[in-house]
Amino acid sequence: MDKTITLLDKQFELFISESEISEAVARIANAVARDYKDEIPIFIGVLNGAFMFVSDFLKSYAHACEVSFVKLSSYRGLTSTGLVKTLLDFPEGIQGRSIVVLEDIVDTGRTVQEIYHLLSGSNVKSFRIATLFFKSQMYKGEYPIDYFGIEIPDRFIVGYGLDYQEQGRNLRHIYQLKQES
Ligand code: IMP
Ligand code: MG
Repeated sequence: MDKTITLLDKQFELFISESEISEAVARIANAVARDYKDEIPIFIGVLNGAFMFVSDFLKSYAHACEVSFVKLSSYRGLTSTGLVKTLLDFPEGIQGRSIVVLEDIVDTGRTVQEIYHLLSGSNVKSFRIATLFFKSQMYKGEYPIDYFGIEIPDRFIVGYGLDYQEQGRNLRHIYQLKQES
């Protein structure tokens, strides 16, 4: 396994291994299953970053469910622009249903806030957020993060769906940006 990788102009070092990620995904799926196994939740993945998490999460979730995706964007390069655009909206027919949004990572919470905003007025039965990675020190949101896999400090990470300028999403481990020395 490569300890250091280069994407464009930046170097990244190994941070969280594939097996730690799998364990975290299974933990989240089990926790969600405990709460939702007696109904048919709709899991809504946030593209692009959450595609790998959604895929592995669903393979660990052994109960009736539906899946769909939304697409928002706020990040450019290494920092959030603070602007969140809706590129693909919530599916039709979610009123009365239990929704669990699947996020790759929650950082400042702007994306989560925008999701709540998009869902307000849609009369869903219930609504929760599950995220694989959680930068809890950076989180400024007013909404609870109901399920999270791994808490991380304020580091920029890539891999397992997460990108640096659209690269690195295919990496099976998580790498963190190397500090300039
Ligand atoms: P927030 O809206 O500030 O909470 O940021 C959430 C979104 O920013 C995530 O869905 C990611 O797409 C992106 N993001 C946040 N932190 C990172 C990171 O460390 N690496 C790559 N993308 C990130
Ligand atoms: Mg994203």
